[in-house]
Amino acid sequence: MMTTQSQIPQAQAVREKFAAAGQEQVFAYWDELTSAEQAGLLEQAQALDVDYINKIAKQALDSLSVSQETAHRIEPLPEGSVGSTLTASAEQQQAWFQQGLELIAQGQVAVILMAGGQGTRLGSSQPKGCYDINLLSHSSLFRLQAERIVRLQNLAAQTFPQHAATAVIPWAIMTSGPTRANTEAHFEAHRYFGLDSRNVIFFNQGTLPCLSFDGKILLESKGKVSEAPDGNGGIYAALHRHHVISDLRRRGVRYVHSYCVDNCLVRVADPVFIAYCVAKGAECGAKVVPKSSWDEAVGVICHKNGRFAVVEYSEISSEMAQLTRADNGRLAYNAGNIANHFYTLDFLDRVPTITDGLEHHVAKKKIKHVDPTTGQQVAPAKPNGIKLEQFVFDVFPYTDNLAVFEVERREEFSPLKNAPGTGSDDPETSRRDLAEQHLRFAQAVGATVVKGPEDPAPQGEISFELSPIVTYAGEGLEFLQGRTLTTPQLITKPL
Ligand code: UTP
Repeated sequence: MMTTQSQIPQAQAVREKFAAAGQEQVFAYWDELTSAEQAGLLEQAQALDVDYINKIAKQALDSLSVSQETAHRIEPLPEGSVGSTLTASAEQQQAWFQQGLELIAQGQVAVILMAGGQGTRLGSSQPKGCYDINLLSHSSLFRLQAERIVRLQNLAAQTFPQHAATAVIPWAIMTSGPTRANTEAHFEAHRYFGLDSRNVIFFNQGTLPCLSFDGKILLESKGKVSEAPDGNGGIYAALHRHHVISDLRRRGVRYVHSYCVDNCLVRVADPVFIAYCVAKGAECGAKVVPKSSWDEAVGVICHKNGRFAVVEYSEISSEMAQLTRADNGRLAYNAGNIANHFYTLDFLDRVPTITDGLEHHVAKKKIKHVDPTTGQQVAPAKPNGIKLEQFVFDVFPYTDNLAVFEVERREEFSPLKNAPGTGSDDPETSRRDLAEQHLRFAQAVGATVVKGPEDPAPQGEISFELSPIVTYAGEGLEFLQGRTLTTPQLITKPL
């Protein structure tokens, strides 16, 4: 690809447009570029709506200076409006599980995974889903999730044999430019972890240019604009752009579970959550975990100007964060958001029309760029610019009926955010939390687990793992009753 004579007027027009928008620095090195590089930059610039970028950047940067607490009416969720596995009876939870499983058996449930993030804090060169948290099985996060789907499909077909032919959970995986190729290659290399590849759908989210703190488009190299995925809220537009919704509809899907790739405890296509939301007649649902303390840095679901919303921990005062409920003394703002959602397919279909474009947020990041003063490429040690991101929860204000469902953190949420050895939300905490859960599952059916001399786990931890093929959430483990198991122990089939 090279700039041709006929492209010269085009290049001139694009450069003028960028100059008029105050973004002429994109072409600062134009004369130094080879004609192939010029053609590449021209193509990239033509695909950018520079006035739109300026508009959303200004909105996002302006909103940084607005205090949410004083600018908006923020209120806790109404008492009694949150469903909870912490208080629901075992019978109720079992009933939800069966109801959800029946919907799965009928082929009405799909899963959408958000796996487009670049995982900068973790610092792995591979997509986060490929990460090995050093389990005995060395399963990647993708494998854990895939095998939970396999298990649920099998359970659904066994429990509802009349629907065995439709007991399939289509899995739509949102990737981005930086994660797509490696993600697909990982699935191919592992033969889709036992899933039928026809039921795994990859689609890419959009990208946006990275900006300096004052809204100027950054160059990654002299002939290339620096771009990044447009945030997990890019999911709504991407689902439409790539016709995923119509594909799922053709397959008979009515309900969707959506989640983040980095949670090793995620209950993919959770029958309990799905049944709860369906019973509530909700078009959208959000799983939440109780905050670990009032000052935990997590967004909470609450009401903002009378609508459902997520308010970040930095957006409310410490007095507000410490408010407690009169009836039970729990924090009033306690519904910690974990980006784990339920949708009806009809709702997802309507999102672009009802939202008229979700707002963009500012994420301050370290962005490799060409320093405009020296012309050198730099990899900064601290944040030097912003990425504009849409957030998946920004649709909440657009629904009247959001089902909020509280679950126990230790059973369902252990995110992988940070590099090994950080001490929180890192590969070690992921592995520990999964092993502790599996230990609880085994003990609950009357097994004894003993740490053996060969177990490499650090003090206070054990190497104990139950394959998702054996159990999804602790069910089906009766074969362990009364047994004594010495670690390291990986159970991949009934003993
Ligand atoms: P995070 O906001 O934690 O981002 O994503 P990240 O990319 O995993 O990590 P950092 O911030 O760069 O260190 C939460 C979830 O949203 C997805 C991620 O893949 C993860 O599942 N996500 C994030 C997207 O799908 N697209 C995006 O543009 C951003």
